[in-house]
Amino acid sequence: MVHNGIIENFRALREDLAAQGLAFESETDTETIALLTRHHLDSGMTPVEAVAATLKRLDGAFALAFLFDGHDDLMIGARKGSPLAVGHGKGEMYLGSDAIALAPMTDQVTYLEEGDWVVLTRAGAQIYDAQGRLANRPTTRIRLDQARVDKAGHKHFMAKEIAEQPSVLAASLGFHTANGQTSLALPEGVDFSTCDRVTMVACGTGHYATQVAKYWFEQLAGVPVETDIASEYRYRQPVLSDKAVGIFVSQSGETADTLAALRHVTGKVARTIGVINVPTSSIARETDVALSIHAGPEISVASTKGFTAQLLVLLLLALKAGLDRGRLTEAQVSAHLETLRGLPALMAQALDHEPEVEALAVRLAESRDALFLGRGVMYPLALEAALKLKELSYMHAEGYASGELKHGPIALIDKNMPVIVLAPHDALYDKTVSNMQEVMARQGQVILISDRAGLEEAGDVWARLVMPNVPDLLAPMVYAVPAQLLSYHTALARGTDVDQPRNLAKSVTVE
Ligand code: G6P
Repeated sequence: MVHNGIIENFRALREDLAAQGLAFESETDTETIALLTRHHLDSGMTPVEAVAATLKRLDGAFALAFLFDGHDDLMIGARKGSPLAVGHGKGEMYLGSDAIALAPMTDQVTYLEEGDWVVLTRAGAQIYDAQGRLANRPTTRIRLDQARVDKAGHKHFMAKEIAEQPSVLAASLGFHTANGQTSLALPEGVDFSTCDRVTMVACGTGHYATQVAKYWFEQLAGVPVETDIASEYRYRQPVLSDKAVGIFVSQSGETADTLAALRHVTGKVARTIGVINVPTSSIARETDVALSIHAGPEISVASTKGFTAQLLVLLLLALKAGLDRGRLTEAQVSAHLETLRGLPALMAQALDHEPEVEALAVRLAESRDALFLGRGVMYPLALEAALKLKELSYMHAEGYASGELKHGPIALIDKNMPVIVLAPHDALYDKTVSNMQEVMARQGQVILISDRAGLEEAGDVWARLVMPNVPDLLAPMVYAVPAQLLSYHTALARGTDVDQPRNLAKSVTVE
């Protein structure tokens, strides 16, 4: 038996089974499911009856697959809270967590719905709903470009996904705009005209994307914004408004906490919008409107193109909010879209600096800790950069708002502390320079990522990375590139597993 998820009542089940004389070999909830099923088989049930009886007793979230000794033409799957899909082959059938997992075998996929379970033989599948009634779920053909999951000549998926960002963002911009990319083309339900606030909820990298977007919504649309981590949001008592728009950002569309947060507000706010990468995912299906970021499959556990593509879609949403609320005219939106058309080329220029980043990463890899600083939209980017470095290289890294330096982290600064400053030469630049000087006065090793004007003004820093000149609105996407490359090359220098860092999962479908 294979299990993804958590069985919440497994202790009670375990005690029950132990009382009936069954012996356990591990402490896992998974073993409880296997033993419970075995117990049902021993009482004379068929495998299908045994699984049906087991499923009735399980509380929690799970995707399950069962094989039975002596039944070589039978596999049973079940889903509740975790995704599961059936793949149809010729004379063979498959179970997988999603279409991408099944892509090497088949492009014919049936998605199970919440509570469904399925009996597979080589000839086909019979799907039952939570009440045990036969269910008819459609089979869809996955587009091969959606399912294409090779490294395209790169050493790692992460390297490929970083490199393809210019084309991903160009394509996504094309999908969401019309009239030669001069006007927005977002689905009808995307409407902010009467909303009194925007609430954005996500986990991990998606959460940092929403934190950047908060600045944009405030600046471009003048609308109050709250952002929160889904695992916090779902358990606090957020004050909901029936005029609010809820935006749920999730690359996989299956993150359990984000889905729960969405369900928490559904029906209580004016509308929910999903910003997702997998159009068939639970969050895409359960939000009122789902906008795809069109990033294509993201395989590397650490999100890169997913992040910048989320930023792009969130920026388009902020422009739409500005338009709906009368803060921006059509002409101003067109002007912003014109600026956005330069984004792929600027990202490509940022990618050209990979050799310098690599050389720098070799030096950074010697350190134990790293601090990232940024101001304005560069602050959430500093948080994302720190997350990327810690998950890939296992170095301790923290992101801080530059202005918070003197409220604590400055105590950490000495000659062994690299401080990576993300600071385009914008309106806030001078303030960041003073923070940098505070670091240098304490022998901290400043690595400044800025444009030529910024680097010229900065004076003598420990290391520097030059970025192209970028319009303010594009800076978070462009500056994400050196941050991603830095963590990628630091991980290579330290010999860690880039695409699958220890202890992490691509999609966290349990709480
Ligand atoms: C996991 C992944 C992260 C991702 C987060 C949220 O932690 O490793 O890369 O940012 O989940 O995932 P989501 O699919 O909801 O964006």
